[in-house]
Amino acid sequence: MLYGKKPVSFCALYDRKGRKSREMYNEIDLDKIDISAEPLIEEPSRQYYFMSKCREWVQEFVRKNGRCPSACIQTFGCQMNAHDSEKLKGILDMMGCEETEDEAADIVIYNTCTVRENANQKLYGHLGHLKNLKAKNPGMVVCLCGCMMQEPHVIELIREKYKFVDIVFGTHNIYKLAELMHTYFTTGKQTIEILGQSTETVEALPQKRKYGFKSGVNIMYGCNNFCTYCIVPYVRGRERSRKPEDIVREIKKLAGSGVKEVMLLGQNVNSYGKIYDYSDGKIIHIPNEECTTFPKLLKMVCGISGIERIRFMTSHPKDLSDELIDVMASEEKICKHIHLPVQAGSSRILEKMNRRYTKEHYLELVDKIRSAIPDISITTDIMVGFPGETEEDFEETMDLVERVKYDQAFTFIYSKRTGTPAASMENQVDADVVKKRFNRLLERVNIIAGEQLNRYEGQIKDVLVEDVNAQDDTFVTGRTGENVTVHFKGSKDLIGQTVKVNLKECKGFYFIGEQL
Ligand code: 5AD
Ligand code: SF4
Repeated sequence: MLYGKKPVSFCALYDRKGRKSREMYNEIDLDKIDISAEPLIEEPSRQYYFMSKCREWVQEFVRKNGRCPSACIQTFGCQMNAHDSEKLKGILDMMGCEETEDEAADIVIYNTCTVRENANQKLYGHLGHLKNLKAKNPGMVVCLCGCMMQEPHVIELIREKYKFVDIVFGTHNIYKLAELMHTYFTTGKQTIEILGQSTETVEALPQKRKYGFKSGVNIMYGCNNFCTYCIVPYVRGRERSRKPEDIVREIKKLAGSGVKEVMLLGQNVNSYGKIYDYSDGKIIHIPNEECTTFPKLLKMVCGISGIERIRFMTSHPKDLSDELIDVMASEEKICKHIHLPVQAGSSRILEKMNRRYTKEHYLELVDKIRSAIPDISITTDIMVGFPGETEEDFEETMDLVERVKYDQAFTFIYSKRTGTPAASMENQVDADVVKKRFNRLLERVNIIAGEQLNRYEGQIKDVLVEDVNAQDDTFVTGRTGENVTVHFKGSKDLIGQTVKVNLKECKGFYFIGEQL
């Protein structure tokens, strides 16, 4: 397996000369599917049927060009999108495409983010570039998917102004890539399918992981929290938890294929397992004692042999239970790191944000976590410039930062998202004022993060090696359980191995270490 910047060949069906090389993936043999029959109805069989259908296009491409079609996926945004892209790559892999990082490819997919306005602007910039590339290669297939596509005004714009875009889909039908490609290949028309809300989760689809030794695993989709600034609940839909047995099955399979570290993914993992009734457009929580809670799920995952490290993201402070703290403290495999977005330090602003905790509650929670797990690393997200934020409110954020001493804080300038309650709030804060506050905050969180990192100096930690160092190939790069980046002398054979490293020298945001 190759790592780093080189394109990774993942042509599933043909070798570089176009000969058939491999046909099995996820134990499903596409050749056994009768593609002369009507499409299957049930998922995921239906999608394997269309992957098999799309291979006809691939075969035709190989005949004409003497090579496999290349496919480039650009991912914007969060871990959830990165994981979705791995699913898209799995589908393309099965169809027989070859992955490339070069946008001058035969298939280009942009998996978009819309959490902040600048993400949208960036996409439109990229689309101009893609239009030029398509002019040079008219057979190029351009696809857009992900969160931004769930916004009706974006779809309108694509229909009107971006006619060279061939396929568009949203967050609820990522798994249908092959079916939508097949529709496009047979009609030749711009194919757009945006679904309002998914009711079921489609299991057992292929996945092409970036790393062989670690993987994201969705445990739930969507969000019911409706923080007033946030567009996620509108573009990712209502909260739905996957069944624990499906999650455990997937992780066992990952462990069997060499995965040592899993990252359990959800917008709010602490409410995993809750059941809701969404009929009549309402959100009604149905209490159910038998439900698997997040801590119970974690224990199940800890029991899977081969899995050495378990991470999770993201925790909402309002739902973080004592049971979770106990499980984190007692289970060796769970990384001693928690990402706990605070967003703001002013209880007044937190209320306007609909976060449903106060500054005091958050600080108590941090104390509780630290007294149970003393050396835990705590990271956060903080937003500056929420509507109505006064100088006093901002000082509360600065005060909170001083008190918590985050190991890392991701800082954002509030961005107005059309359709969210905060977008129509009065007192939007002046951009210059926000910028000054943002810079003050950034400077402080960086200094504190550097000081926090220093505490590991001289300690010996287990480091899971991820890559050859990008600057110096006599070094490798890995992470500790606390998510601290460490560079140390070593060769690429160490990739995927967990080794003991002395964290010798703190360099601000990372360590230079020495393998024992
Ligand atoms: N403006 C700025 N930042 C935002 N986030 C979410 N919505 C917005 C917005 N409208 C930030 C939050 C969240 C992180 C993923 O992105 O801090 O935790
Ligand atoms: Fe957005 Fe709040 Fe849901 Fe996080 S918890 S995704 S910030 S609405």
